[in-house]
Amino acid sequence: MTNTITKDIVHCQELLRNNELVAIPTETVYGLAANIYNDEAVRKIFEMKGRPLFNPLIVHIHHLDQLSSLAKSVPEAATKLAARFWPGPLTLILEKNASVSDLVTAGKSTVAIRMPNHSLTLELLQGLDFPVAAPSANPFTRVSSTSAQHVADYFGNRIPAILDGGSCTVGLESTIVGFDGETTVVYRKGGISLEAIKACVGKVRLLTKNEKAPEAPGMLAKHYSPGTKLILSDGILKTMEGFTNQKIGVLAFHEANFANATMVETLSEKRDLDEAAQNLFAALHRLDQADLDVIIAQRFPNEGLGISINDRLERAGN
Ligand code: TXA
Ligand code: MG
Repeated sequence: MTNTITKDIVHCQELLRNNELVAIPTETVYGLAANIYNDEAVRKIFEMKGRPLFNPLIVHIHHLDQLSSLAKSVPEAATKLAARFWPGPLTLILEKNASVSDLVTAGKSTVAIRMPNHSLTLELLQGLDFPVAAPSANPFTRVSSTSAQHVADYFGNRIPAILDGGSCTVGLESTIVGFDGETTVVYRKGGISLEAIKACVGKVRLLTKNEKAPEAPGMLAKHYSPGTKLILSDGILKTMEGFTNQKIGVLAFHEANFANATMVETLSEKRDLDEAAQNLFAALHRLDQADLDVIIAQRFPNEGLGISINDRLERAGN
Protein backbone atom coordinates (compact mmCIF):
# COMPACT_ATOMS: atom_id res chain seq x y z
CA MET A 1 0.00 0.00 0.00
CA THR A 2 1.34 3.43 -0.86
CA ASN A 3 0.98 6.20 1.68
CA THR A 4 -1.20 8.23 -0.70
CA ILE A 5 -4.16 5.96 0.11
CA THR A 6 -6.10 7.68 2.88
CA LYS A 7 -9.49 7.96 4.58
CA ASP A 8 -8.81 11.55 5.64
CA ILE A 9 -11.54 13.62 3.96
CA VAL A 10 -10.34 16.92 5.47
CA HIS A 11 -6.86 16.36 4.01
CA CYS A 12 -8.39 15.60 0.57
CA GLN A 13 -10.53 18.74 0.73
CA GLU A 14 -7.42 20.80 1.57
CA LEU A 15 -5.59 19.38 -1.45
CA LEU A 16 -8.52 20.11 -3.78
CA ARG A 17 -8.74 23.71 -2.46
CA ASN A 18 -5.02 24.03 -3.23
CA ASN A 19 -5.69 22.94 -6.83
CA GLU A 20 -4.14 19.50 -6.42
CA LEU A 21 -5.57 16.22 -7.73
CA VAL A 22 -7.33 13.69 -5.49
CA ALA A 23 -8.61 10.28 -6.55
CA ILE A 24 -12.15 9.81 -5.25
CA PRO A 25 -14.33 6.73 -4.79
CA THR A 26 -17.72 6.57 -6.48
CA GLU A 27 -20.23 3.74 -6.83
CA THR A 28 -19.20 3.29 -10.50
CA VAL A 29 -15.40 3.59 -10.70
CA TYR A 30 -12.75 5.75 -9.00
CA GLY A 31 -12.39 9.29 -10.39
CA LEU A 32 -9.41 11.64 -10.68
CA ALA A 33 -10.78 14.88 -9.28
CA ALA A 34 -9.91 18.59 -9.48
CA ASN A 35 -11.61 21.95 -8.84
CA ILE A 36 -13.64 22.75 -11.99
CA TYR A 37 -13.05 26.49 -11.54
CA ASN A 38 -9.26 26.26 -11.69
CA ASP A 39 -7.87 25.53 -15.15
CA GLU A 40 -4.41 24.77 -13.79
CA ALA A 41 -5.89 22.02 -11.61
CA VAL A 42 -8.05 20.67 -14.45
CA ARG A 43 -5.04 20.59 -16.76
CA LYS A 44 -3.28 18.27 -14.28
CA ILE A 45 -6.05 15.69 -14.85
CA PHE A 46 -5.34 15.55 -18.58
CA GLU A 47 -1.58 15.33 -17.96
CA MET A 48 -1.87 12.57 -15.36
CA LYS A 49 -4.13 10.43 -17.58
CA GLY A 50 -2.35 11.17 -20.84
CA ARG A 51 -5.81 12.15 -22.04
CA PRO A 52 -6.32 14.25 -25.19
CA LEU A 53 -7.72 17.73 -24.52
CA PHE A 54 -10.63 17.14 -26.90
CA ASN A 55 -12.15 14.63 -24.47
CA PRO A 56 -14.48 16.48 -22.05
CA LEU A 57 -14.80 15.72 -18.32
CA ILE A 58 -17.78 14.94 -16.08
CA VAL A 59 -18.61 17.49 -13.35
CA HIS A 60 -19.51 15.88 -10.00
CA ILE A 61 -22.03 17.58 -7.69
CA HIS A 62 -23.64 16.72 -4.33
CA HIS A 63 -26.86 18.77 -4.50
CA LEU A 64 -29.47 19.55 -7.17
CA ASP A 65 -29.18 23.27 -6.34
CA GLN A 66 -25.76 23.24 -8.02
CA LEU A 67 -27.34 22.50 -11.41
CA SER A 68 -28.49 26.07 -12.01
CA SER A 69 -24.94 27.44 -11.77
CA LEU A 70 -23.65 24.86 -14.28
CA ALA A 71 -26.46 24.40 -16.82
CA LYS A 72 -28.42 26.98 -18.80
CA SER A 73 -31.57 24.91 -18.89
CA VAL A 74 -32.74 21.51 -17.70
CA PRO A 75 -35.15 19.61 -19.99
CA GLU A 76 -38.12 17.88 -18.37
CA ALA A 77 -36.69 14.44 -19.10
CA ALA A 78 -33.45 15.42 -17.35
CA THR A 79 -35.37 16.53 -14.26
CA LYS A 80 -37.23 13.21 -14.22
CA LEU A 81 -34.05 11.17 -14.63
CA ALA A 82 -32.23 13.12 -11.91
CA ALA A 83 -35.14 12.66 -9.51
CA ARG A 84 -35.23 8.92 -10.22
CA PHE A 85 -31.50 8.06 -10.38
CA TRP A 86 -29.45 10.66 -8.46
CA PRO A 87 -27.34 10.15 -6.53
CA GLY A 88 -26.39 7.30 -8.86
CA PRO A 89 -24.64 6.04 -12.00
CA LEU A 90 -26.22 8.49 -14.44
CA THR A 91 -24.59 11.45 -16.23
CA LEU A 92 -26.67 14.19 -17.86
CA ILE A 93 -25.39 16.26 -20.78
CA LEU A 94 -26.87 19.75 -20.56
CA GLU A 95 -26.34 23.15 -22.22
CA LYS A 96 -23.54 24.75 -20.19
CA ASN A 97 -23.39 28.08 -18.41
CA ALA A 98 -20.58 30.52 -19.22
CA SER A 99 -19.00 29.86 -15.80
CA VAL A 100 -17.98 26.33 -16.86
CA SER A 101 -14.52 26.42 -18.40
CA ASP A 102 -13.86 25.30 -21.98
CA LEU A 103 -11.12 23.08 -20.62
CA VAL A 104 -13.68 21.01 -18.70
CA THR A 105 -16.05 20.70 -21.68
CA ALA A 106 -13.34 20.55 -24.37
CA GLY A 107 -14.85 23.63 -25.97
CA LYS A 108 -18.31 22.09 -26.28
CA SER A 109 -21.50 24.04 -25.57
CA THR A 110 -22.66 21.25 -23.26
CA VAL A 111 -21.47 20.03 -19.86
CA ALA A 112 -21.72 16.49 -18.44
CA ILE A 113 -22.97 16.41 -14.83
CA ARG A 114 -23.40 13.61 -12.31
CA MET A 115 -24.23 13.19 -8.61
CA PRO A 116 -22.30 10.11 -7.48
CA ASN A 117 -23.74 7.76 -4.87
CA HIS A 118 -20.88 7.30 -2.44
CA SER A 119 -21.11 8.58 1.14
CA LEU A 120 -17.41 9.56 1.44
CA THR A 121 -17.38 11.51 -1.80
CA LEU A 122 -20.71 13.20 -1.07
CA GLU A 123 -19.27 14.28 2.31
CA LEU A 124 -16.10 15.48 0.59
CA LEU A 125 -18.11 17.53 -1.93
CA GLN A 126 -20.41 19.00 0.74
CA GLY A 127 -17.40 20.66 2.37
CA LEU A 128 -16.21 22.33 -0.85
CA ASP A 129 -17.59 25.47 -2.46
CA PHE A 130 -16.90 24.15 -5.96
CA PRO A 131 -17.83 20.96 -7.85
CA VAL A 132 -15.04 18.68 -9.08
CA ALA A 133 -14.30 17.46 -12.59
CA ALA A 134 -13.40 13.77 -12.56
CA PRO A 135 -12.71 11.29 -15.31
CA SER A 136 -12.13 7.64 -14.46
CA ALA A 137 -8.82 7.21 -12.59
CA ASN A 138 -6.86 5.23 -15.17
CA PRO A 139 -4.38 6.07 -17.92
CA PHE A 140 -6.18 6.94 -21.19
CA THR A 141 -7.65 3.82 -22.92
CA ARG A 142 -6.91 1.48 -19.96
CA VAL A 143 -9.25 -0.49 -17.67
CA SER A 144 -10.98 1.73 -15.07
CA SER A 145 -10.16 1.41 -11.36
CA THR A 146 -12.69 -0.07 -8.95
CA SER A 147 -10.49 0.06 -5.82
CA ALA A 148 -8.02 2.50 -4.27
CA GLN A 149 -5.28 -0.07 -4.90
CA HIS A 150 -6.01 -0.13 -8.66
CA VAL A 151 -5.48 3.65 -8.70
CA ALA A 152 -2.23 3.31 -6.73
CA ASP A 153 -1.04 0.55 -9.10
CA TYR A 154 -1.50 2.90 -12.06
CA PHE A 155 -0.24 6.19 -10.64
CA GLY A 156 1.68 5.38 -7.42
CA ASN A 157 2.76 8.49 -5.52
CA ARG A 158 2.12 10.81 -8.46
CA ILE A 159 -1.37 11.48 -7.05
CA PRO A 160 -1.19 13.47 -3.78
CA ALA A 161 -4.07 11.44 -2.24
CA ILE A 162 -6.38 8.54 -3.04
CA LEU A 163 -9.49 8.63 -0.87
CA ASP A 164 -10.21 5.03 0.04
CA GLY A 165 -13.91 4.23 -0.19
CA GLY A 166 -13.57 0.47 -0.67
CA SER A 167 -14.58 -1.47 -3.76
CA CYS A 168 -17.05 0.19 -6.13
CA THR A 169 -20.53 -1.29 -5.73
CA VAL A 170 -21.73 -0.78 -9.34
CA GLY A 171 -18.39 -1.34 -11.07
CA LEU A 172 -19.24 0.10 -14.50
CA GLU A 173 -19.00 3.77 -15.49
CA SER A 174 -22.18 5.86 -15.45
CA THR A 175 -24.75 5.71 -18.22
CA ILE A 176 -24.44 9.01 -20.12
CA VAL A 177 -27.53 10.63 -21.65
CA GLY A 178 -28.16 13.83 -23.57
CA PHE A 179 -31.32 15.41 -24.94
CA ASP A 180 -32.53 16.03 -28.48
CA GLY A 181 -35.90 17.76 -28.27
CA GLU A 182 -38.25 15.33 -26.53
CA THR A 183 -35.91 12.41 -27.05
CA THR A 184 -33.36 11.13 -24.52
CA VAL A 185 -30.15 10.08 -26.29
CA VAL A 186 -27.90 7.46 -24.73
CA TYR A 187 -24.23 8.40 -25.31
CA ARG A 188 -22.67 5.63 -23.23
CA LYS A 189 -24.18 2.43 -21.88
CA GLY A 190 -23.31 2.07 -18.21
CA GLY A 191 -24.37 1.40 -14.65
CA ILE A 192 -28.06 2.07 -15.28
CA SER A 193 -29.67 -0.27 -17.80
CA LEU A 194 -31.29 0.96 -21.00
CA GLU A 195 -34.53 -0.66 -19.82
CA ALA A 196 -34.50 1.46 -16.65
CA ILE A 197 -33.86 4.69 -18.61
CA LYS A 198 -36.72 3.84 -20.98
CA ALA A 199 -39.08 3.04 -18.13
CA CYS A 200 -38.37 6.51 -16.69
CA VAL A 201 -38.58 8.76 -19.78
CA GLY A 202 -40.18 6.76 -22.59
CA LYS A 203 -38.60 8.17 -25.75
CA VAL A 204 -35.00 6.92 -25.95
CA ARG A 205 -32.51 6.36 -28.75
CA LEU A 206 -28.85 5.39 -28.95
CA LEU A 207 -26.26 7.84 -30.27
CA THR A 208 -25.79 7.34 -34.00
CA LYS A 209 -22.38 6.57 -35.55
CA ASN A 210 -22.19 10.07 -37.06
CA GLU A 211 -22.90 11.69 -33.72
CA LYS A 212 -20.27 9.83 -31.74
CA ALA A 213 -17.00 9.99 -33.74
CA PRO A 214 -14.22 11.49 -31.59
CA GLU A 215 -16.64 13.38 -29.37
CA ALA A 216 -17.14 10.76 -26.70
CA PRO A 217 -13.96 8.71 -26.50
CA GLY A 218 -15.68 6.42 -23.98
CA MET A 219 -17.40 5.35 -27.16
CA LEU A 220 -14.18 4.96 -29.16
CA ALA A 221 -13.37 1.51 -30.48
CA LYS A 222 -10.25 1.04 -28.35
CA HIS A 223 -10.98 1.74 -24.71
CA TYR A 224 -11.16 -0.03 -21.36
CA SER A 225 -8.26 -2.18 -22.58
CA PRO A 226 -6.03 -4.52 -20.62
CA GLY A 227 -2.39 -4.79 -21.79
CA THR A 228 -3.01 -8.45 -22.65
CA LYS A 229 -4.78 -9.36 -25.90
CA LEU A 230 -8.50 -9.92 -25.20
CA ILE A 231 -10.99 -11.84 -27.33
CA LEU A 232 -14.76 -11.62 -26.84
CA SER A 233 -16.18 -15.06 -27.55
CA ASP A 234 -19.58 -16.65 -28.10
CA GLY A 235 -18.12 -20.07 -27.23
CA ILE A 236 -15.12 -20.08 -24.90
CA LEU A 237 -14.11 -23.75 -25.34
CA LYS A 238 -14.19 -23.41 -29.12
CA THR A 239 -12.12 -20.21 -29.05
CA MET A 240 -9.60 -21.86 -26.69
CA GLU A 241 -8.84 -24.48 -29.35
CA GLY A 242 -7.08 -21.76 -31.34
CA PHE A 243 -4.56 -21.20 -28.52
CA THR A 244 -3.13 -24.63 -27.69
CA ASN A 245 0.12 -24.52 -25.63
CA GLN A 246 -0.54 -20.91 -24.72
CA LYS A 247 -1.32 -19.37 -21.35
CA ILE A 248 -5.05 -18.65 -21.54
CA GLY A 249 -7.05 -16.59 -19.08
CA VAL A 250 -10.82 -17.07 -19.11
CA LEU A 251 -13.32 -14.42 -18.05
CA ALA A 252 -16.67 -16.17 -17.62
CA PHE A 253 -20.11 -15.30 -16.27
CA HIS A 254 -20.18 -18.36 -13.97
CA GLU A 255 -18.16 -21.52 -13.23
CA ALA A 256 -17.77 -24.20 -15.90
CA ASN A 257 -15.07 -26.65 -16.92
CA PHE A 258 -12.21 -24.74 -18.57
CA ALA A 259 -9.57 -27.45 -18.05
CA ASN A 260 -6.96 -25.98 -20.42
CA ALA A 261 -7.06 -22.50 -18.98
CA THR A 262 -4.15 -21.17 -16.90
CA MET A 263 -6.44 -18.85 -14.97
CA VAL A 264 -10.22 -18.51 -14.69
CA GLU A 265 -12.18 -15.53 -13.36
CA THR A 266 -15.93 -15.99 -12.90
CA LEU A 267 -18.07 -12.92 -12.30
CA SER A 268 -21.25 -14.26 -10.70
CA GLU A 269 -21.91 -17.79 -9.44
CA LYS A 270 -25.60 -16.98 -9.08
CA ARG A 271 -25.70 -15.59 -12.66
CA ASP A 272 -26.62 -12.09 -11.54
CA LEU A 273 -25.68 -9.39 -14.08
CA ASP A 274 -25.40 -6.63 -11.47
CA GLU A 275 -22.95 -8.75 -9.47
CA ALA A 276 -21.03 -9.56 -12.66
CA ALA A 277 -20.72 -5.83 -13.47
CA GLN A 278 -19.45 -5.15 -9.96
CA ASN A 279 -16.68 -7.74 -10.36
CA LEU A 280 -15.76 -7.10 -14.02
CA PHE A 281 -12.89 -4.59 -13.83
CA ALA A 282 -11.18 -6.17 -10.78
CA ALA A 283 -11.18 -9.50 -12.65
CA LEU A 284 -9.71 -7.81 -15.74
CA HIS A 285 -6.99 -6.19 -13.61
CA ARG A 286 -6.07 -9.61 -12.09
CA LEU A 287 -6.04 -11.33 -15.47
CA ASP A 288 -3.90 -8.55 -16.90
CA GLN A 289 -1.33 -8.96 -14.11
CA ALA A 290 -1.05 -12.75 -14.58
CA ASP A 291 1.37 -12.70 -17.53
CA LEU A 292 -1.04 -14.54 -19.87
CA ASP A 293 -0.81 -14.83 -23.66
CA VAL A 294 -4.49 -14.17 -24.19
CA ILE A 295 -7.70 -13.41 -22.28
CA ILE A 296 -10.85 -15.03 -23.65
CA ALA A 297 -14.01 -13.33 -22.37
CA GLN A 298 -17.50 -14.71 -22.62
CA ARG A 299 -20.24 -12.64 -24.29
CA PHE A 300 -22.89 -11.83 -21.66
CA PRO A 301 -26.69 -12.10 -22.01
CA ASN A 302 -27.97 -9.12 -23.99
CA GLU A 303 -30.16 -7.62 -21.25
CA GLY A 304 -29.85 -5.30 -18.25
CA LEU A 305 -26.23 -4.58 -17.34
CA GLY A 306 -25.19 -7.47 -19.64
CA ILE A 307 -25.55 -4.95 -22.50
CA SER A 308 -23.13 -2.54 -20.77
CA ILE A 309 -20.69 -5.36 -19.92
CA ASN A 310 -20.63 -6.50 -23.57
CA ASP A 311 -20.01 -2.91 -24.65
CA ARG A 312 -16.92 -2.71 -22.40
CA LEU A 313 -15.64 -6.15 -23.48
CA GLU A 314 -16.05 -5.28 -27.18
CA ARG A 315 -13.90 -2.17 -26.74
CA ALA A 316 -11.40 -3.96 -24.49
CA GLY A 317 -10.94 -6.46 -27.29
CA ASN A 318 -10.10 -3.94 -29.98
O1 TXA B 1 -19.01 6.72 -13.78
C1 TXA B 1 -18.43 7.64 -14.36
O2 TXA B 1 -18.98 8.34 -15.24
C2 TXA B 1 -16.98 7.92 -13.96
C3 TXA B 1 -16.96 8.38 -12.50
C4 TXA B 1 -15.58 8.79 -12.04
O3 TXA B 1 -17.89 9.40 -12.32
N1 TXA B 1 -16.39 8.88 -14.82
C5 TXA B 1 -16.05 8.61 -16.10
O4 TXA B 1 -15.41 9.66 -16.76
O5 TXA B 1 -16.25 7.54 -16.63
P1 TXA B 1 -14.61 9.50 -18.12
O6 TXA B 1 -13.98 10.83 -18.33
O7 TXA B 1 -13.73 8.34 -18.06
O8 TXA B 1 -15.74 9.33 -19.18
C6 TXA B 1 -16.60 10.42 -19.43
C7 TXA B 1 -17.18 10.35 -20.80
C8 TXA B 1 -16.14 10.53 -21.89
O9 TXA B 1 -16.33 9.54 -22.86
C9 TXA B 1 -16.47 11.92 -22.43
O10 TXA B 1 -16.16 12.05 -23.79
C10 TXA B 1 -17.95 12.02 -22.17
O11 TXA B 1 -18.12 11.42 -20.92
N2 TXA B 1 -18.40 13.42 -22.08
C11 TXA B 1 -18.08 14.33 -21.14
N3 TXA B 1 -18.64 15.53 -21.40
C12 TXA B 1 -19.35 15.38 -22.53
C13 TXA B 1 -20.14 16.26 -23.32
N4 TXA B 1 -20.33 17.53 -23.00
N5 TXA B 1 -20.71 15.74 -24.43
C14 TXA B 1 -20.52 14.43 -24.79
N6 TXA B 1 -19.78 13.56 -24.08
C15 TXA B 1 -19.20 14.03 -22.96
MG1 MG C 1 -12.81 6.60 -18.62
